[in-house]
Amino acid sequence: MSNDGVNQSRRRVLTAMTSVVGAAGVVGVAVPFVGSWNPSAKAKAAGAPVEFNLSKLVPGQMVTVEWRGKPVYVVRRTQESLQSLDAVADRLRDPESAKSVQPAYTQNVYRSIKEEFLVLVGICTHLGCAPTYRPDVGAEDLGGSEWLGGFFCRCHGSKFDLAGRVFQGVPAPINLEIPPYKFLNDDVILIGVDQEA
Ligand code: FES
Repeated sequence: MSNDGVNQSRRRVLTAMTSVVGAAGVVGVAVPFVGSWNPSAKAKAAGAPVEFNLSKLVPGQMVTVEWRGKPVYVVRRTQESLQSLDAVADRLRDPESAKSVQPAYTQNVYRSIKEEFLVLVGICTHLGCAPTYRPDVGAEDLGGSEWLGGFFCRCHGSKFDLAGRVFQGVPAPINLEIPPYKFLNDDVILIGVDQEA
C-alpha cells in the first residue's frame, strides 16, 4: 500500500473514532484533527517534528495530532485522572512500563514530562487499531465502577488507563507507545524530538 493509501485509511479511522466519541455523548471531549502543524508533504514524509500548543486544551480534553502519519493523542489530565493512576496499578500488566516503548524521561507513573499532559501514540499495541479516549468514569460498557477512565480499543477489547498502561486480561501485550517530545516553552511541545538530558 502506498503512503497515501496508509494516510487515507488512518484518516478514516480517526474520523470513525471521532464519530464514536460523539455518539457516546461524552461531554467536553472533542477529538478534533488539529491543524496546528503545517509541514510540507515532503517534510512530513521524512518525519518532521510537529509543534502543538497545550494551552488550547481544557482539563479532560484530548486532541489528535498527526506525526509521521501516526495519530498522537495529547490529553490534559484532570487531578482526578492523575489520582486514578495509583488506584488501577494492581490491575495493570506492566504498571512500571518496564517492557514498554517510551523515552527514558517518561518512564514514570505518569508516563510524561509534566504530569498533567499525556502524549502518546494512538495505535493499539495488539494489531494497530486506534483506541478511543474514554474518560467517562464508571462507564457501564467498560466495567462500571471499576472503570476510572482511559482508552478502549474496540477491535478486540483492549483497555488502557489514563497513562496508556494496558490492563491485564486483554489482547494488547504492552502499554501504548510514548513518542519522543520536548517542551519548547511552558505551553508548546515539539513531538518527534527528544528532551535534552
Ligand atoms: S487491535 Fe486493539 S485490541 Fe486488537
